[in-house]
Amino acid sequence: MSDEQKAKVQAQFGPSSDAYATSDVHAKGESLALLVELVQPQPDWQVLDVATGAGHTALAFAPHVARVVATDVTAEMLQKTAELAAKRGLTNIETQPADAESLPFDDASFDLVTCRIAFHHFPNPRQALTEFARALKPGGLLGFTDNITVPDRQAAGYYNAYEKLRDPSHNWVYPLVRLQAMIEDAGLKIEASRELSKEFEFHEWADRQHASAATKEKLLEMMRHLPELLQPFLAPRWADETMYFTLHEAVIIARRGEE
Ligand SMILES: C[S@@+](CC[C@H](N)C(=O)[O-])C[C@H]1O[C@@H](n2cnc3c(N)ncnc32)[C@H](O)[C@@H]1O
Repeated sequence: MSDEQKAKVQAQFGPSSDAYATSDVHAKGESLALLVELVQPQPDWQVLDVATGAGHTALAFAPHVARVVATDVTAEMLQKTAELAAKRGLTNIETQPADAESLPFDDASFDLVTCRIAFHHFPNPRQALTEFARALKPGGLLGFTDNITVPDRQAAGYYNAYEKLRDPSHNWVYPLVRLQAMIEDAGLKIEASRELSKEFEFHEWADRQHASAATKEKLLEMMRHLPELLQPFLAPRWADETMYFTLHEAVIIARRGEE
């Protein structure tokens, strides 16, 4: 990613490390346990967690493996990951700054690469997947999750505009079939694919990315005028002082072939 894109991510996530550390959807979201269950981590594994945020994925895998390298472009997030690891007495987590699209690791270094709820930030997502595949040992696994959208291009554009308004460092959320195709194009073979839904309260979601009052009003306005295709997908439910809505997440496990 360019320096300008990196600065945008850092400006967005730097002040949010506390909010991501305590966010239920990140710390306890259903995709975390499912990822561990589907991957079946082994005690001798070397693991790379890409775009670790406050480190929840690294923290979930660390008790099951030999070593986890938790990487991110935002220094405050890496600091939060290190703090949480120390608090839990997990001594096998290391933190290292790294751009997902240009990983500072040798080819075939890891048994498992994880990337959870972050892919939609990457401006060159195919380059990131090429890097994940390169960093994996032959036979190694990718444990991936990200939000997904509907396949219709126009409706997907509307949903992505909603996300981008709340978080200017957002790049693009893809439909499940596109994610699957991109992962396979990177030379990885999909072994499992699941879809989950998760519920959000509007103000907590918007405040996590410090959206202004004016931005929040625009976001609510967008939700009031959702395209028909997005109505059942985002399912907004209006309450007195707020609004609840649903987002969808894919969990995909893919393997690098043996060479
Ligand atoms: C929503 S958080 C990740 C959540 C985390 N993986 C978890 O399981 O809780 C998104 C993270 O992506 C990071 N990020 C965005 N673009 C990145 C890139 N190109 N390379 C590495 N990290 C990036 C941000 O700094 C932020 O910490």
